[in-house]
Amino acid sequence: MEQTYRDFTLQWHITHRCNLRCRHCYQDDYSAFDSDGAKLVLDQFSEVMKAYNCVGRLNLTGGEPLTHPKLFDILHEARARGMRTGVLTNGTLIGEWEARRLKASGVDYVQVSLDGCEKTHDKIRGKGSFDRAVNGIIALRAQGIFTSVSFTAQRQNQRELARLARYCDSLGADKLWFDRVVIPADEDKEQLTLSAPEFQRLCRTAARLNRRGKVFCGRSLQFLPCKNKLIYHCAAGENLLIVLANGDVMPCRRLPLVIGSVHETDLLTLHRQHPVMQELRGIGIPQGCQACQYAETCRGGSKCIAYAKTGRYDIPDPDCPLAKKDPTLFFQHAESGSV
Ligand SMILES: C[S@@+](CC[C@H](N)C(=O)[O-])C[C@H]1O[C@@H](n2cnc3c(N)ncnc32)[C@H](O)[C@@H]1O
Ligand code: SF4
Ligand code: SF4
Repeated sequence: MEQTYRDFTLQWHITHRCNLRCRHCYQDDYSAFDSDGAKLVLDQFSEVMKAYNCVGRLNLTGGEPLTHPKLFDILHEARARGMRTGVLTNGTLIGEWEARRLKASGVDYVQVSLDGCEKTHDKIRGKGSFDRAVNGIIALRAQGIFTSVSFTAQRQNQRELARLARYCDSLGADKLWFDRVVIPADEDKEQLTLSAPEFQRLCRTAARLNRRGKVFCGRSLQFLPCKNKLIYHCAAGENLLIVLANGDVMPCRRLPLVIGSVHETDLLTLHRQHPVMQELRGIGIPQGCQACQYAETCRGGSKCIAYAKTGRYDIPDPDCPLAKKDPTLFFQHAESGSV
């Protein structure tokens, strides 16, 4: 039977240029930029949508997408092709003019990063960046644009979710969600990655906030302590692709595997035929999750976290309290609790 999806997300890092240098950022090159590739990527994504008969969600990000001079044109063009569009930004370059242009481009949602309250956010993202991001959120909300706040949970901000939730509420942000920082264990020199107990504690806090409608708990494993049983399953290998600013293609931005380039092979062919994509789809329910009541839907939690912590993506998420762990694997952060 022909494969179909209900929706398919293309996360397109239209530039790697950025006005900030956040401590946890997975980029190490801030120069890649392609001002001519837009038609190629949009054409290829249109083919994916057609082949899988699905809604296409195009998230434009970076680097900082607001530094790209053609951001608004790309949004217009994507919308004309029937794609739903979002912009993932640090918010610091959004004033009234940019918010108006985003509104006029028909963008469906904008996500702004806030990694804590002012002091912590500025420690992670640079002095003054909190105030500028907040002004961006205010400008977006003034245009009636659906604005979500993204919190990347890491060692230094893990206790700020509740305070940030209160603040986001007062700002009128539409949604606050969080996910774990993902850094390969051997590159995590500043030890930013949360241990399994730290992540589980944060999920319990989030579940309490979720009951009051303050935090969205829709990412992997967040359903466990949360009454809202929205069970997420990792989209790597399935209805997700990433295109970087130089044209490289990845199954997920947090899984450091490049499977090709849009300049050599189209997205649909890469998605259907690349061995890494086929292998990711083939994992199904990993060993260690078989007895779990959520196995059919969750299917092992986050593959990027498993890969970052152990070098393998075919095993259960090391931060899951329910998964049976293979003692021969080195769960560096997961087991220590305080690496
Ligand atoms: C790469 S940024 C691009 C958009 C914009 N510059 C921003 O900061 O929101 C997109 C999101 O990825 C997150 N991110 C960056 N490095 C990460 C990492 N190592 N693990 C998990 N998330 C990361 C950022 O915190 C941000 O929320
Ligand atoms: S603002 Fe975004 S792209 Fe820029 S350094 Fe921070 S996380 Fe990376
Ligand atoms: S045991 Fe596996 S399937 Fe069950 S919740 Fe944990 S990671 Fe998900």
